[in-house]
Amino acid sequence: MSQESQNKMEKIVALAKRRGFIFPGSEIYGGLAGTWDYGPLGALLKKNFKDWWWRDMVQVRRDIVGIDAAIMMNPKAWEASGHVAAFTDPLVECKLCHARFRADKPEDTRAHEKTHKEKVFWTEPQKFNLLVRAYLGVIEGKESEIYLRGEITNGAQVNFKNIIDSTRVRVPFGVAQIGKAFRNEITPGNFIFRSREFEQMEVQFYIKPDEKEGEKWFQYWKQNRMDWFLSIGFHKEHLRFRDHASDERAHYASVACDIEFLAPWGWDEMMGIHHRGDWDLRRHQEYAKVDLHYTDPDTGEKYLPWDIETSSGVDRPLLFLLLESYAEEAGRAVLKLHPRLAPYTAAVFPLVANKPQLADAAGKIYDDLRKRFMVAWDERGNIGKRYFSQDEIGTPWCVTVDYQTLEDETVTVRDRDTMKQERVAIADLQTYFEEKLQ
Ligand code: GAP
Repeated sequence: MSQESQNKMEKIVALAKRRGFIFPGSEIYGGLAGTWDYGPLGALLKKNFKDWWWRDMVQVRRDIVGIDAAIMMNPKAWEASGHVAAFTDPLVECKLCHARFRADKPEDTRAHEKTHKEKVFWTEPQKFNLLVRAYLGVIEGKESEIYLRGEITNGAQVNFKNIIDSTRVRVPFGVAQIGKAFRNEITPGNFIFRSREFEQMEVQFYIKPDEKEGEKWFQYWKQNRMDWFLSIGFHKEHLRFRDHASDERAHYASVACDIEFLAPWGWDEMMGIHHRGDWDLRRHQEYAKVDLHYTDPDTGEKYLPWDIETSSGVDRPLLFLLLESYAEEAGRAVLKLHPRLAPYTAAVFPLVANKPQLADAAGKIYDDLRKRFMVAWDERGNIGKRYFSQDEIGTPWCVTVDYQTLEDETVTVRDRDTMKQERVAIADLQTYFEEKLQ
């Protein structure tokens, strides 16, 4: 990582903690590696991000339905999905200090070698299963052992029959879901990029089992996801596709392509598009002994659909969005988040704190706007400092109530990116923000 990139990453981590976006998990106990807690601003940013995704995937589309499946599943589902046998990373151990690393991440092992004066010898790579185990019920032991889901996907696959029986979906259709996943990552790191508990947002898109259909929908979803990330604020030159070679594909995928982001440490995966074929439905059908065939209502044809999956993390793109939107300019640090993602749409200030008339007028605007938007309030220090404080957390607009407000019922609205100000009537404020958020 270049010094400049390293600095930017450190600034984001510090800002995230200082301003209440993201805290280290269980910090007062010394933390728990690979876990992070979202603070008041982080929770808002994450919600806006997930809502936008849900709106574009489920609300405005006719061909996708949403679900919210359980994190804990019958452990047989994980045998069927292939995760018990094949959801592994290659692990090597340093023979000097017993630290463990992924054998397929040479940059990590090389960095570790530099921490020792002596020559480092490594154990042979072993397969390390990433599923997190838990015990359910009153008896601890093999019978009550379950797995926390390693991907959210299988909540959709095991409900395939329930979904076609209970809705009017017809192939091609998708099942969307957002939720937590857990992985016993050997080396969590790079802040929230790789953690042990994280969120995913996925669509399993079921299509006719046909090579041409498979190719068509795979290309469609690749472009659809790239366009979506560009629409929410990523720069074209910081995103690219990367096809997986046959030896790096997950056990369930016959074709796979990542959308990568130019991270401070180099290009790295943000999300994946996977051609899962009928792997999941076939295996669940076999292990659960339940017929999962789909019957075409027009032709009566029966088949196991193929699944083209789009699988993204939530946390990882959020880290990339923070990096993408952070800038230092005009003597301030600013998060140029898309206004629809920003934790607060606006902040309201009385020009000075000690004038009750101004505070009352500003308080009323604050209360009114809060019925429709997330709005911040600040009355400390001077206006310039308040602007900069809001810039740093990405608030797109600041509303200042001043002496003129008391005369003509207008306020100053200052724009985060241009830093320009304009007078807007109090009565028009809501429409003003609504139009800007379109
Ligand atoms: N259902 C397919 C699947 O889970 P994946 O490539 O293993 O595919 C999809 O994961 C996405 O989930 C990744 O591109 C990344 O955004 C996110 N992700 C995976 N492991 C993660 C981790 N340990 N920490 C944070 N995000 C992770």
